[in-house]
Amino acid sequence: MIFWRVKSLEAILATAEKKSLDRSLGAWQLTLLGVGAIIGTGIFVLTAEAAQKAGPGMMISFVIAGFVCAVAALCYSELSSMVPVSGSAYTYSYAVLGELVAWMVGWALVLEYAVASSAVAVGWSGYFVGLLHNSLGMEIPAALASGPFAGGIINLPAVIISLFVTGLLIIGTRESATFNAILVTVKIIALTAFIAIALPAVQSENFHPFLPLGGSGAVAAAASIFFAYVGFDAVSTAAEETRNPQRNVPIGLIGSLGICTVFYLLVSTGAVGAIGAQPLLDSNGAGLPPGSAALAEQCRTLASAGQQPLVCSREALALVLRQIGWGQLGNLLGLAAFLALPSVILMLLFGQTRIFFVMARDGLLPDVLSRIHPRFRTPHIVTLITGLAVTLAAAFFPVGKLADVSNSGTLFAFFVVSIAVMILRIKEKDRHRPFKTPFIWVVGPLAMLGTLVLFCYLPTEAQWVFPIWGSVGLLFYFLYGYRNSHLASGNNRLTEATNLPAEDSPLAKTATIETRE
Ligand code: ALA
Repeated sequence: MIFWRVKSLEAILATAEKKSLDRSLGAWQLTLLGVGAIIGTGIFVLTAEAAQKAGPGMMISFVIAGFVCAVAALCYSELSSMVPVSGSAYTYSYAVLGELVAWMVGWALVLEYAVASSAVAVGWSGYFVGLLHNSLGMEIPAALASGPFAGGIINLPAVIISLFVTGLLIIGTRESATFNAILVTVKIIALTAFIAIALPAVQSENFHPFLPLGGSGAVAAAASIFFAYVGFDAVSTAAEETRNPQRNVPIGLIGSLGICTVFYLLVSTGAVGAIGAQPLLDSNGAGLPPGSAALAEQCRTLASAGQQPLVCSREALALVLRQIGWGQLGNLLGLAAFLALPSVILMLLFGQTRIFFVMARDGLLPDVLSRIHPRFRTPHIVTLITGLAVTLAAAFFPVGKLADVSNSGTLFAFFVVSIAVMILRIKEKDRHRPFKTPFIWVVGPLAMLGTLVLFCYLPTEAQWVFPIWGSVGLLFYFLYGYRNSHLASGNNRLTEATNLPAEDSPLAKTATIETRE
């Protein structure tokens, strides 16, 4: 039974030994990688969407989403320290819940990583267009600055940035990680400057009414703003390229999430308190849905009257600074987002290609995807294919919808991880755990419950994408993965697909791997 096609932890670790990527990342680089993947479009752009759903109470939404991520990160950390190989939730599920669930998780992670990369590319495009307009007085034709859903034809800036990042990843992890470190620094400086300027401008009346759309508005905003925290698990997908992963991966995961949570709380307090964050309502007093034509219409009407509320902005944080009299700094923050958001795309795309790489190595995807470039030593084919798919989505879809869809896949993956860590506590209770989730019987159920609740508060269309995408995945699995799984053939042997230089090739040490069904 495929549910019980479980891969033993020994097999997973041995496979990773045999066909490995370069181990070049340390704890600090991993934390930077996490911060690089986390801080991005969520805080820079989607703050406006959260305000439209929750009003000033979006600060609570950041806390709710941060809390769910924190408990999930604690579960991730235990698994990633026990199974320090590429593949994240996919690999953990393979070891605990079997091949079918693992496949579904890997498939869901495509939504998390690839769709999120597209969302960030679209968010970047908003800042790029705003920067050209505000700093240089240049306009990109509207038809080329957004996709058809937002009234344009194609989002050309989003296409260009996606292709650029794909190229960087093909050249190699080491170069990409250095590049990431520089951009993370830029991002941290920009957010610190924002906090330093916005917090002194806070006025208490801007917090009233605090929850104009009630508590459910705050939870709905949390389900969307959850996107702002997505990416911390990119750290665990890099485990196979990490030195001493047992120690460094948990540090990277928890460290990066902690740093980002502090920033988000301060930034959202500053944004709300400085210029207010009241949602736009319809004639019945209900909040207009973000991304809707009705909201766009109200925003246009207000803009022609010279008003620009936070909820209408495509560059939320830059807008706040401009409105409190720091126009040049607003432009500089726009420049920072312009420079730094590509690091988020980089890390998300990195995570995606590594997950595909591992799935191909397991035989669930065609072997060609696990081929490694002889000179760059990166999985170049899978990177190219993924990059092109991300580019296509970024070209045509709006940022909020992409973010919500991404959240649906991520929440599913987190849900499964929180179950997996508890099952493993029972099944393999004596196994060495370099990192142990504290209070697992409280933290694990909280992570399950939290992800479930947030999923239920996502917009309906995002909830639907997940089962549809999942059905396509199941079909693919039964047509391809089920038959080609290396585990099913009792063979986790690596195949011809590897073309590492002979002296480096782990194939030199072919070993028989224990599997059990
Ligand atoms: N957390 C990442 C962002 O906000 C995906 O852009």
